[in-house]
Amino acid sequence: MYNLGYRAIEKRILPYCTNKGIAVVGYSPFGHGNFYSPQSTKGKVLVEIANRHGRTPRQIALRFLSLHSNVFIIPKTSHPEMARENSQSVDKDWGLTDKDIEEINRAFPVSDGDNPLKMI
Ligand SMILES: NC(=O)c1ccc[n+]([C@@H]2O[C@H](COP(=O)([O-])OP(=O)(O)OC[C@H]3O[C@@H](n4cnc5c(N)ncnc54)[C@H](OP(=O)(O)O)[C@@H]3O)[C@@H](O)[C@H]2O)c1
Repeated sequence: MYNLGYRAIEKRILPYCTNKGIAVVGYSPFGHGNFYSPQSTKGKVLVEIANRHGRTPRQIALRFLSLHSNVFIIPKTSHPEMARENSQSVDKDWGLTDKDIEEINRAFPVSDGDNPLKMI
């Protein structure tokens, strides 16, 4: 499981897999359907970044989660237009800036501690 609210795999799993050349599939990238409302404090951070790029908050989230070269994100949708929106998150003609990444890291930090990974 890998989403902005649950980045625990970044602590040990991702570095290990990167080092071994193992691909990682990140599931439930939208928090299992509980994505941030644009009115929430965290949602507003995503909206602001999205507006700077002419993108959507979900595209910002997917782009961020796809920053690691060996991670593949699998958002689920039954709507073609949403699948298109999701796939355009990794288009080559745009990208997150250092400022965007810093703001996302501040709003959605990797949690402390070293607990067993959550699974669905
Ligand atoms: N153990 C495992 O391997 C495991 C566990 C859990 C999930 N998964 C897999 O991971 C994938 C996703 O998991 P998930 O269902 O937990 O949740 P998710 O991808 O975090 O969220 C899916 C929800 O987001 C909505 N959505 C997707 N794109 C959207 C968009 N652009 N705009 C608005 N809403 C959008 C979908 O709506 P609609 O449905 O209405 O289109 C659906 O309700 C699935 O393929 C699932 O099979 C694997």
